[in-house]
Amino acid sequence: MKAGIVTPGQKDSARLIEMDMPVISSGQALVRLLELGIDGTDIEINRGEYGETPPDKDFIILGHEAVGQIENPGTTELGKGDFVVPMVRRPDDCVNCQRGQLDMCLVGNYRECGIKGAHGFLREYLAEDVAFLVPVPKELRNIAVLTEPTSIATKGIEQAMEFHNRSANPIDIAVVLGAGPLGLLTTALLKLHDYNIYTLDVVPRSSVKAQLVESVGANYVDGNVSSVVSLADKIGNLDLIMEATGNSTVAFQAMSVLGINGVLCLMGVSTGQKPLEVNASCLNMQMVLGNKMVFGTVSSNRGHFERSVESLIHIEERWPGWLSRLITRRLTLDKFRDALDPAPDNIKTVIELT
Ligand code: BGC
Ligand code: ZN
Repeated sequence: MKAGIVTPGQKDSARLIEMDMPVISSGQALVRLLELGIDGTDIEINRGEYGETPPDKDFIILGHEAVGQIENPGTTELGKGDFVVPMVRRPDDCVNCQRGQLDMCLVGNYRECGIKGAHGFLREYLAEDVAFLVPVPKELRNIAVLTEPTSIATKGIEQAMEFHNRSANPIDIAVVLGAGPLGLLTTALLKLHDYNIYTLDVVPRSSVKAQLVESVGANYVDGNVSSVVSLADKIGNLDLIMEATGNSTVAFQAMSVLGINGVLCLMGVSTGQKPLEVNASCLNMQMVLGNKMVFGTVSSNRGHFERSVESLIHIEERWPGWLSRLITRRLTLDKFRDALDPAPDNIKTVIELT
């Protein structure tokens, strides 16, 4: 079978290789992978800034957002032809991993398929334990590749809502920073709760991203016209901010505009160095006097994947066709390297694996 691999730590090392077909062992199913979504993490890994090979290997198969179909269920309860989405993390022996909360790993020896210490899904076939395969209904076949990024947003939103529940005032205004795939999915998930949503990016109002924001009834804010720091003055008390740009400067700007009793969720991984001068006393005082809360969130567990599947169904019912508009580029496996060059106005690139 063909597989798209990289050498972590080496810039632009992405290449296609021929590999042996995987063989299933007990408790595993053979999955024929259909589609793979590329995200910022994959691009960072190919830039040599992130990623780690599996033990004793000098490369890693890239890709962690996938959908596939069961080719051989083995001894599992899955059926041939069932659609499944593979989870990203594999647990270590810490107390949280052992209880299924591998997204809250305590010691960091977890592996992440396509990212850290385990091969990913940019390949034709996968032998996988049933515990890490999440079934998806066939109606979602063309958008199920969005399940993994949706699970990241789901985890962030669930926690943010729980934290916000400390105070009696309901969430009224929510801001989403970034209208990439994660920001757009976050916008739609929050809109299912009918909050007043403002999603900010730096693309023009005529762009597809801005149109997608507005077509779920959220407001698009052009960051070139109104900056993050001016948001509160324009909109009101920012109850919830979901940071989905991965830009650390934006994350600190968000802290300074967070509303009274507000919750700021940081979802974007940032690499490299970016020193920033902040008025620490002022920020600290505002945080304390305003009961504000800032938290980071990474990865997702099986429950988040399962609830994401439910949410994708609801989004599709409420805004038919909206999710498939997020997929702006489709490439065949032999062209996957093109997906690792960020193209302006592109939202989600999907690699067709069959
Ligand atoms: C993935 C997560 C992963 C994170 C950190 C993200 O791109 O979606 O599953 O935990 O990167 O490696
Ligand atoms: Zn762990």
